[in-house]
Amino acid sequence: MGKRFFSGALSIILLILGFMTNQETAYGQSPAEHDHPHSHYVEHDTVVSHKLIFPSKTPDRVIANLTVDPAHSFAVNWRTNQQIDLGFVEVTLATDGPEFLLRDVRKVKAISQQFENQNSREPLVKATFHSAVISNLQPNTTYVYRVGNGSEEDGYWSEWYQTTTAHDDIDAPFSFIYFGDAQNDVKSLWSRVIRNSYRQFPDVDFMLHAGDLINDRDANLEWGEWFHAGSFIHATIPSIMTPGNHEYRNGQLSSLWRPQFTLPENGPIDVVKETCYTLDYQNMKLISIDAEAFDENLEARAAQVKWLDSVLNNNTKKWTALTLHYPIFSTAKGRDNKELREALKPLMDKYKVDLVLQGHDHTYARGFVKNEGKGLTVVKDAGTIYAVSVSGPKMYESKDQEWMVRRGEYTQLFQIITVSKNSIKYGAYTPIGTLYDAFELIKKNGKKKLINKVPDTPIRLRKDFVKEE
Ligand SMILES: [Fe+2]
Ligand SMILES: [Fe+2]
Repeated sequence: MGKRFFSGALSIILLILGFMTNQETAYGQSPAEHDHPHSHYVEHDTVVSHKLIFPSKTPDRVIANLTVDPAHSFAVNWRTNQQIDLGFVEVTLATDGPEFLLRDVRKVKAISQQFENQNSREPLVKATFHSAVISNLQPNTTYVYRVGNGSEEDGYWSEWYQTTTAHDDIDAPFSFIYFGDAQNDVKSLWSRVIRNSYRQFPDVDFMLHAGDLINDRDANLEWGEWFHAGSFIHATIPSIMTPGNHEYRNGQLSSLWRPQFTLPENGPIDVVKETCYTLDYQNMKLISIDAEAFDENLEARAAQVKWLDSVLNNNTKKWTALTLHYPIFSTAKGRDNKELREALKPLMDKYKVDLVLQGHDHTYARGFVKNEGKGLTVVKDAGTIYAVSVSGPKMYESKDQEWMVRRGEYTQLFQIITVSKNSIKYGAYTPIGTLYDAFELIKKNGKKKLINKVPDTPIRLRKDFVKEE
């Protein structure tokens, strides 16, 4: 007992000493002298920033991602420091009590890669990124899993997380939450959005991020904030994400994107690997188009258009949702994406895509081309529904346009989308649970009907909250 106490106390002292040393070497100057353009946390709270930026032996940034077979598998990624060079996932069926610990849990070895990056005006961060795909799972089943270095005696493990696979009955209802740009002050001001979305809809099956998750491509502090904000939710509810322009700089994708996520690799060419992809979730086809690659790289543009045509042409799913960061229809003047629209909208129309989920404009709008300013409650054959949303605090203005059924500014939102055999229900909520927009799509016997359910509350406009000088 005495020996155990002594070694325990010694580890705590070593931990504190190590932490103090790291803190000094991390910045090489006092926080006050450290001019950091991307976040004030470095200046104001070194301890918090340190924890968000630097890995330790214990896994952090644990995230589950959807695979191409979400009824039978999920992917998990996490990070440690470079003293850990092996990673394992332990996984088993969840039980009412701790009896799952008494069983033989499955141990899956991860792919572990050493990685370092230094963003401008940030310290060098050395890490090991681990990723694994857990397959051969049963559909609609809740599993417990933890990630760590695999050692029983000298183990550095995460807590046990729970996650649930998709149904194999493709018509069983499921739901997902769609977020527009989180992007700025992610720890301070986005955290309540993802946390309340989960509090309000804890049974959600996955989450979808429509780009600009952070502001500065390779900023370790910002990614640290994104993982901190979602915390265990990222490890519990699998997610998918499409990159925005802020995950890119000078045509280069964030060097952290592929190490820290595992997304399907079934896009057309290598340059859009894990950014342009498709997967089927029960009876819905989900597609991510890399809008920044479309914009910046003519080869990636042509390849994605051709690929999308073929994916949609071979689509046998009842529902189709597409996510891309740049809107096909922008919400504001001067932000039009004409080339994107001219290339992609004919495909949305031809293959009758149901939903297009977008970001970038830092406002909210939802509508369809045939709306023509009419705003009818029930519309037969409305065509594709386009949504632009924002979940973070950066807010722009928009302009009323005929395609819009509901518009809003200066409002942080998340959207819960529930997919059933014959219907899709959509609700846009604020972080305090106020419903801002809603509609239902009904598809039966090849016919589609849109029912607008816009709540009877006034439109929110930026000018009502922010008085310009
Ligand atoms: Fe943005
Ligand atoms: Fe953007």
